[in-house]
Amino acid sequence: MCPVTKVFSFFLILLFSSRIKRRTKLFLKLEDFLWRRNASKLPSQYLFDGSLLPRNLNMPTSFFPFPHSLKCKMCVVVGNSFAIKKTSLGSAINKYDVVIRLNNAPVPGYEEDVGNKTTMRIFYPESAISNPRLHNDEDTLMVMVPFKPHDLRWLKEMLYDEKRDRRGFWKPPPLIWLVNRSNVRVLDPHFMHQTVKQMPFQPTTGFLAVFVALNYCDVVHIAGFGYPPKSDQQQPIHYFENNTMKAMKSSPHDINHEAQALKRLEEVGALMYLHPHL
Ligand SMILES: *[C@@H]1O[C@H](CO)[C@@H](O)[C@H](O)[C@H]1NC(C)=O
Ligand SMILES: *[C@@H]1O[C@H](CO)[C@@H](O)[C@H](O)[C@H]1NC(C)=O
Ligand SMILES: *[C@@H]1O[C@H](CO)[C@@H](O)[C@H](O)[C@H]1NC(C)=O
Ligand SMILES: *[C@@H]1O[C@H](CO)[C@@H](O)[C@H](O)[C@H]1NC(C)=O
Repeated sequence: MCPVTKVFSFFLILLFSSRIKRRTKLFLKLEDFLWRRNASKLPSQYLFDGSLLPRNLNMPTSFFPFPHSLKCKMCVVVGNSFAIKKTSLGSAINKYDVVIRLNNAPVPGYEEDVGNKTTMRIFYPESAISNPRLHNDEDTLMVMVPFKPHDLRWLKEMLYDEKRDRRGFWKPPPLIWLVNRSNVRVLDPHFMHQTVKQMPFQPTTGFLAVFVALNYCDVVHIAGFGYPPKSDQQQPIHYFENNTMKAMKSSPHDINHEAQALKRLEEVGALMYLHPHL
């Protein structure tokens, strides 16, 4: 039933050459906010100050739309790559227990290829949109990745309708965020720590999402991953806009490194692509 589980420890040894226990607790609890002191070896951009969050935030940590009791959790991570265009994968994607989407990826108008079910959406403030309801389900978990200290500050301002402070973002995040606050989560920094420790570059949201899925799910399939080939610099990067690789020039990501890591994960059977890829 769950063929990937067995391969999992192999992949860990191959990819990370250190032992990591599988982690199924995905979100942050307030008690965890001590971690700043323990993270001194990481570049400061990955740290944030938990004291920014008020004690009474009362953020749920469970994953309620989806019972832990399911024997075999089938997950699909839907990346934003142009590679998903014209795949007609939409109805296949809708059949997974958990559908993870990334950043500002739109859904209406693209259902044929990307489906229309969203169990969780992983994002950071700059990739949030003012009205998440347009592109998510009523019970979609909005999972923020805290990449930097300002991200939690933004979240707090949004949830408590506090005065907005626009400093510290590389692109203006929304000043109005029409979210149902009972659907908001913060990704446990554990996942960021682990990826950064193993590969010293800032992961893309997509790569982080795959890592989260490998921890949480028993079967991980991915679609919409991959960048345009070097020979086709005109091809857009994303399925929903026309930016080409030129727009990636100043990016902090190491997409070659990530592509290799995904390839190794595929080779050892830890994940499967739903469409042909380079
Ligand atoms: C931080 O380190 C202290 C002492 O080593 C430990 O007791 C505590 O659990 C750690 N906190 C976290 C969040 O890892
Ligand atoms: C997805 O689309 C189908 C067919 O149009 C519709 O019946 C269903 O309610 C939609 N699901 C969501 C979560 O929007
Ligand atoms: C917020 O989300 C919860 C859980 O999905 C739901 O029960 C509740 O009705 C929603 N509230 C509003 C105002 O949409
Ligand atoms: C991208 O380019 C196509 C073809 O030129 C055009 O039809 C489409 O509207 C553009 N999309 C966006 C989001 O700009």
